[in-house]
Amino acid sequence: MSENKGKRITLVTGANKSIGFEVARQLAERGDTVLIGARNEERGREAEDKLKAEGFDAHFVHLDVEDAETHQTAAKFVAEKFGKLDVLVNNAGIALDANFKASTVPQDLLRKTFDTNFFGVIALTQALLPLLKKSDAGRIVNVSSGLGSLTLHGDPEWEFYDVKLLAYNSSKTALNAFTVMLAHELKDTNIKVNSADPGFTATDLNGHSGYKTVEQGASVIVDLATLPDDGATGSYFDDKGVVPW
Ligand SMILES: NC(=O)c1ccc[n+]([C@@H]2O[C@H](COP(=O)([O-])OP(=O)(O)OC[C@H]3O[C@@H](n4cnc5c(N)ncnc54)[C@H](OP(=O)(O)O)[C@@H]3O)[C@@H](O)[C@H]2O)c1
Repeated sequence: MSENKGKRITLVTGANKSIGFEVARQLAERGDTVLIGARNEERGREAEDKLKAEGFDAHFVHLDVEDAETHQTAAKFVAEKFGKLDVLVNNAGIALDANFKASTVPQDLLRKTFDTNFFGVIALTQALLPLLKKSDAGRIVNVSSGLGSLTLHGDPEWEFYDVKLLAYNSSKTALNAFTVMLAHELKDTNIKVNSADPGFTATDLNGHSGYKTVEQGASVIVDLATLPDDGATGSYFDDKGVVPW
């Protein structure tokens, strides 16, 4: 175990670019040691180098959220190098169904979306939970989306009412269910679990059509990753406050 004693150890998945990279950058700026989870080594190392060039403590960790073997090797790396994990930001996500409606979405697309956005997140979180339990103040942030809110989908006045992407949206609704169930299970521990909606952010996910910057998108995630001990758990937030389930 290392010189990082006393520093928060923070792992962000899909941290090689976009919102995930910016979350890692902002948390490093606050003094965290950040672990850059990325499925592609070259892209992950590039991100690590960029943060190191800014003077931050960053380490690439090979992590494909769909590959349980990488969950185990990542957990082993964190255990051996740091002995604990303080923050897990489940940021990696995909959106594949822009061209389909609920009546036409292919089964394989639906399953692929759930593999990454739901099953993979649960498996990785389960693999890292023993390390989060070693933290004095564990924080898990599940990066969801306002599109996961069934309440908002029922409101014709809502800005994104017509964005009815079955695979993506329901994978985030399911992710929100994981937040609620895990937070309840951990309610008597030091670990807080919340869902974050970064808002419509210009990234590769949407061909840069979003109107928020990655700095703006990252802010609610960073807030939830740095909640004080009396902060919320089992909730769903955007940068304006609580989002209805
Ligand atoms: N942008 C928005 O408007 C918006 C709104 C609400 C919620 N979100 C959520 O915010 C999160 C980040 O989205 P983004 O907009 O930054 O998307 P993005 O630009 O497409 O970046 C997605 C990141 O996830 C990684 N990733 C995808 N599948 C992976 C896997 N199986 N294993 C490991 N990493 C994987 C990608 O890695 P590669 O570079 O290797 O592909 C990339 O680093 C997602 O969960 C998304 O659903 C985004």
